[in-house]
Amino acid sequence: MSFTCYEDFRSRARRRIPRLAFDYLDGGSGDEVAARESVDAIDRVRFMPRALVNVDRIDVTKELFGRRYAVPFGIAPVGLGGLIWPGADRMLWEAAIKGDMPYVMSTAATTPLEQAVEGTGGKAWFQLYVAKDEAVADDLVDRANALGVEVLFVTVDVPVPGRRLRDIRNGLALPLRPSPRLAVDLATHPAWCLALARSGSPRLANIERYADPGATAGQLAAFMATQSSGRLDWDVLRHIRDRWPRKLVVKGIVSPDDAVRARDAGADGLVVSTHGGRQLASTIASIDALPSVRAAVGADFPVLLDSGVRNGEHVAKALALGADFVLMGRLPMMAIAAGGGEALETAFAIVKDDLARALALLGVPKAEDLGQSAIATALR
Ligand SMILES: Cc1cc2nc3c(=O)[nH]c(=O)nc-3n(C[C@H](O)[C@H](O)[C@H](O)COP(=O)(O)O)c2cc1C
Repeated sequence: MSFTCYEDFRSRARRRIPRLAFDYLDGGSGDEVAARESVDAIDRVRFMPRALVNVDRIDVTKELFGRRYAVPFGIAPVGLGGLIWPGADRMLWEAAIKGDMPYVMSTAATTPLEQAVEGTGGKAWFQLYVAKDEAVADDLVDRANALGVEVLFVTVDVPVPGRRLRDIRNGLALPLRPSPRLAVDLATHPAWCLALARSGSPRLANIERYADPGATAGQLAAFMATQSSGRLDWDVLRHIRDRWPRKLVVKGIVSPDDAVRARDAGADGLVVSTHGGRQLASTIASIDALPSVRAAVGADFPVLLDSGVRNGEHVAKALALGADFVLMGRLPMMAIAAGGGEALETAFAIVKDDLARALALLGVPKAEDLGQSAIATALR
């Protein structure tokens, strides 16, 4: 099958993986207003292209934290990758290395961080969920440090889990709970089941070691459910800042005041993010929050954006409105769900190509020169 855009990957994914897994990936919280709006708000932004510029040489490279990447986008942390397709984490980091882009591994990944660091030659970054138990959070930070991870993302928009109605209706839990509905769902997706049977049920490989060694699968699940990070406040962030010696990025900021406070607390960058509309169900869209965050922290502070980015023009809009870099969560995972590592590479090639085309059509040959003058709408 030939894929041309996000919807192609999404519609193929919907058929290829069980509904339980597809809904986990595709869904948002509550009535999913924020999830839809994260995309719609980017769609609403309009460009002001400039003509008669020599665009024979297009440059989509971009620098972040002292390294120039082939593209100005990377892979956002996504938990439970192995539920979407066994081996998804590895596919992500291999595509990141091949495409020369950043890859952020989640605390809730189904592959250990140690493997990602080894597989990427030390290039994998790590995203921290601050556990209820301080010793667990500290140990995760220390593990990433000992592995030489360059950038630590601290996710701050999950003080409690979002209420994802699709997951509730589907009875999503780890380990998978047998039910007639699940049996039908699985029976109609034999390729996924076969892959899962070969690899074993997905496990929270980075944090399972902190549960009791003799824990049953059910006890482990209960342990995971207690790991939400309600205690994470500015004091805890400062504690992590003191413990972590390299770059620290705060992920999940939309308020300009929080952005300034994060910078002043010693963060090296932040991600304007609504967690893909999976937390507060009616929150502002990242793209709408971006200009005031950029204005608040100043021109030189690294600001990344995620939530709702589905194509190359979306990337260009985020860069023009003040982001230094863009991350994507659903797009890479949807591609893997649709067709594995090969489809993932296709997805990134399409985004890169569309971004280059957008730059040419905008009359801005270099991605790093994109600015508000490329934007026509009131958002400027
Ligand atoms: C299935 C799924 C799992 C996610 N898991 C995590 C996670 O473990 N840690 C985290 O910081 N963000 C997580 N996120 C949020 C992403 O990092 C990112 O903010 C979001 O996906 C961006 O929106 P997009 O999917 O529209 O690109 C997850 C998102 C999805 C869709």
